[in-house]
Amino acid sequence: MKVICVKNGKGGDGKTVFSLNLAALLAKEGKVLLIDTDPRCHSSNFMIKNESVPVTGTFEKGNLGEWITGKKTADQVIRHSMFENLDFVACSDDLDDYVKELEKKRIISMAGRNLKECIDKIADRYDYIVIDCSQNVTTIDVNVLVASDFALIPVKCGLSSMDGCFEMLDWIEQVQTLNPGLDYKIVMNDREKNKEAEEIESKARELWDEKVCKTTIRHQSKPLTKSLRTGIPVVYEHRTPSEIKRTTIADDFINLVKELKQYGC
Ligand SMILES: Nc1ncnc2c1ncn2[C@@H]1O[C@H](COP(=O)(O)OP(=O)(O)OP(=O)(O)O)[C@@H](O)[C@H]1O
Ligand SMILES: [Mg+2]
Repeated sequence: MKVICVKNGKGGDGKTVFSLNLAALLAKEGKVLLIDTDPRCHSSNFMIKNESVPVTGTFEKGNLGEWITGKKTADQVIRHSMFENLDFVACSDDLDDYVKELEKKRIISMAGRNLKECIDKIADRYDYIVIDCSQNVTTIDVNVLVASDFALIPVKCGLSSMDGCFEMLDWIEQVQTLNPGLDYKIVMNDREKNKEAEEIESKARELWDEKVCKTTIRHQSKPLTKSLRTGIPVVYEHRTPSEIKRTTIADDFINLVKELKQYGC
C-alpha cells in the first residue's frame, strides 16, 4: 500500500483537482481510499455527490476528525463511492477542534503519528491512499506528511506558485527527520500556451531538475468546470470518438500516473 499526499504551500494550485483525478485513475487498477484533510472540504463535497449509499445530513457519517481522535472506527468513517474501488473519508469544518484535542495528548501527536496509526490499521484493505491537503502547515498537515510515502506538489505556472513550492520543499526537509522515507515530485500545472508560462516552467525545471515530472498538466478550464458540475472526475468523463482523437487534460493526468508508476509510486 502506498500513501500519496497532494500538497503545496499555496492555495488554488490544483491540489483537489489532482487528488480527485489521481484517486480516480489509481482506482482503475486497485483499491483506493481518498482522504480529505482540508477543513474547507472541497474533495469531500465532490465525493459526497457520488456516494453509493447517500446518508441524510452531509456529515452524519463519521469524519476525519472523529477517526483520528478515536471517536469512530475506520468502518464508521469510510464511505463508498459509486465508482468502483474508490472509497473516501470526508473532512469537516470543525477539524481544528479535533486536532486541538489531539494536541492535548502530547506523546503521539508531537511526533505527528495519529493519522499514520489510523492508516496502518487499514493498510491491507487498500492499494493506494490519496490525501488531499490544504496549503497550511498545522498539526494535521505534519500528520499527513508523516503518514505519506510520496508527496505530489502541483505548481501552477506562475511566480507566486514557485514561492509556495519552495515553502513545501522546506517542510518536506523538516518532516523527513520524522519520516525519512518521504519522497516527492513536483508537477507543473495549469500550463498555458504563452511565453510567460514557458519561461516559468523552464525556470522550475532548471531549479528542481529531475524532481519535476516530465508530464505537465495543461490549462484547460472547460472539462474541470464540467467535472465540478457533474461530480465526475475528468478522467472518468465519457468521450465521443472525435473527442478521443483530441488530447485533453484527462490525457495529461493519465500520462502523469504512468510516469509516477515509473518512479515506483
Ligand atoms: N490545469 C488546470 N486548468 C484550468 N484550471 C485549473 C487547472 N488546475 C486547477 N484549475 C482550477 O483552479 C482552481 C483551484 O484548483 P483546486 O481547487 O484543485 O486547487 P487547490 O490547490 O485544491 O485549492 P485550495 O488551496 O483552495 O484547496 C479550480 O477552479 C480548478 O478548476
Ligand atoms: Mg483544495
